[in-house]
Amino acid sequence: MSISQETIQAVQSSIHIEEVIADFLTLKKKGQNLWACCPFHQERTPSFSVSPAKGFYKCFGCDAAGDAITFVREIEGISFIEAVKYLANKYRIDIQESEPHTQQVQQEKDSLYILLNLAKEYYVSTLWGHPEGQTIGLNYFKERNFAEPFIKKFELGYSLDAWEAFCQFAKNKGYKETLLEKAGLIIQKEHKTYDRFRGRVIFPIHNVSGKVIAVGARMLNADSKQPKYINSPETDIYRKSDALYGIFQAKHQIRQEDSCYLVEGYTDVISLHMAGIANVVASSGTSLTEEQIQLIGRFTKHITIVFDGDPAGIKASLRGIDMVLEKGLNVKIVLLPEGEDPDSYALKVGTTAFQHYLKAQAQDFITFKATLLMQSAQEDPIRKAGAIREIVQSIAVIPDAVKRAVLTQQCSKLLGIDEAVLNAEQNKLIFQKEQEQRRRGERSLHAHTASMMLASKSEPGHKLEDSIKAYERESIRMLLSYGNAPIEDEKLLYSYLLQELEEVHFRTPEYRKIMEHFQHQLDRGNVADATYFIQHQDEAMRKTAIDLTASPYEVSDHWEEQHQIYTAKEEDDLHQTVFKNILRLKLRLIQQLIEENRAGLQNKLEPEEEDKLLQIHTALKQSETSIAHQLGIVIW
Ligand code: CTP
Ligand code: MN
Repeated sequence: MSISQETIQAVQSSIHIEEVIADFLTLKKKGQNLWACCPFHQERTPSFSVSPAKGFYKCFGCDAAGDAITFVREIEGISFIEAVKYLANKYRIDIQESEPHTQQVQQEKDSLYILLNLAKEYYVSTLWGHPEGQTIGLNYFKERNFAEPFIKKFELGYSLDAWEAFCQFAKNKGYKETLLEKAGLIIQKEHKTYDRFRGRVIFPIHNVSGKVIAVGARMLNADSKQPKYINSPETDIYRKSDALYGIFQAKHQIRQEDSCYLVEGYTDVISLHMAGIANVVASSGTSLTEEQIQLIGRFTKHITIVFDGDPAGIKASLRGIDMVLEKGLNVKIVLLPEGEDPDSYALKVGTTAFQHYLKAQAQDFITFKATLLMQSAQEDPIRKAGAIREIVQSIAVIPDAVKRAVLTQQCSKLLGIDEAVLNAEQNKLIFQKEQEQRRRGERSLHAHTASMMLASKSEPGHKLEDSIKAYERESIRMLLSYGNAPIEDEKLLYSYLLQELEEVHFRTPEYRKIMEHFQHQLDRGNVADATYFIQHQDEAMRKTAIDLTASPYEVSDHWEEQHQIYTAKEEDDLHQTVFKNILRLKLRLIQQLIEENRAGLQNKLEPEEEDKLLQIHTALKQSETSIAHQLGIVIW
């Protein structure tokens, strides 16, 4: 759905960032800015700053940064549109939808949300207010030791054991049967209409912002031939693969703890809450999907999966977990004693022991998998080889090279296998994947790794990339901070910089984007500055601009002093500063070309090809020396 540009602008111009953030944090004024402990990472002393004047926040501890809309998005884990709606509501701004088509789709969705909310309220009031709800529903929860505050927190309810109690109720309120059916609340069959959920306790399923999107309904007696749970079918507002039970009730705690427990069932989530563990969600009995992982990933990069102690079930889930690793999340595993699920085990051993168990038993997924597979392979060499390959596979999907290296080391110790063997296997896999991706024309996750492997001289390549990025960053910083400042011969800094960098193609996507955007604006006669980018619609550019122009010196108590010294010096000799920065960037770029050329020379080549590469090498070396000369560095 989309909101009109006017609404977005009205919201943007009404926002006072300090008011928005103050709804979530206690801010203290110090200097021109307001400060708090950062909600996006754990800390004791405040490094989270809010600048009312500039309209953005920035954390000097974890690099979180953005404007008010970003803040609401991040803290609530919701989309841009949802955040704008939230702010529109806060500032009492009417929301205008954009196109008629999307408007209609949105209206349909809205009516489903309203209806699901009505159903939830109906089931809740039946549970607490209707005699059948009290004697049967509430009693069921009491027997299972569900405490009242948690029954309320999760908005649990009860559906009467009658054919059309809810249907009648909703129709009396003016809802049409077609909508009730679309919402999955009633079933129409052979001209008969009846409630989908009858004589069951109700677990509403909320989306991340707290709206009810579906329900799960559990039967009460064990001996029935019916399924234990009946769930809402998929609708326009409920996609099973996107939802995570408990995410709304857990999200703030997940961020606070920077970790999330993943369990299987509705009741497990509630039991963990009662045991004082509120950072928990359930996949509702199915294997995790990419969307669900991404949803958790908005709040934390650490997932602990709690498994029932059923070996067959565990083996079946192992492969799905590789997907979590691939998304860059860290996975730990807790194994419960056989025959227990989190709900039953928490009841059995009590809160303290249960909390302790979860902490003490959590083990890293890779080592968990390694132990499990090696145990079952025992002394069979073929199965052992298979197990090793599988373990290496799990490691190979992890995007972070450092993490891969550490895990490889650990597994080598654990399995008693030479690290080099594991590495070779790993490189093979990464390389295969590379080629596959390239064949499909995809941009690769491991492009860097692969090129490092090919270049064989990995270290310098890596450092070069880093410093190229740093000089690109510095160029953009100069451009945004001093673009309009005159340097030599009344020339403005931006035009000097653009001229000098005309033939340089920035490697870092975020800086390249700003560069291109700057150029684009210039073509229309605007010289964009830091403020322009900080207020820009594009989230990524906005963040980069804030990062580049917020001075870390503000953190210090003497920041003003330091700030002044700092800028005074730089501004004194802008020409020198920008000139040197450009030369350094060019030097590194040439050195990178030399590296790449050198790597090419290591291949088996035809004599002519080799000749050509050698000529290129000489030419590049000459340029390198010339630039180095201007910079006053000696290159051997
Ligand atoms: N589930 C389902 N339909 C079923 C069985 C299970 O949708 N027929 C989903 C539910 O989300 C359930 C989860 O799978 O919460 C886990 O199933 P299970 O462990 O059998 O249920 P519990 O949540 O443990 O429920 P209880 O403790 O009441 O048995
Ligand atoms: Mn259970």
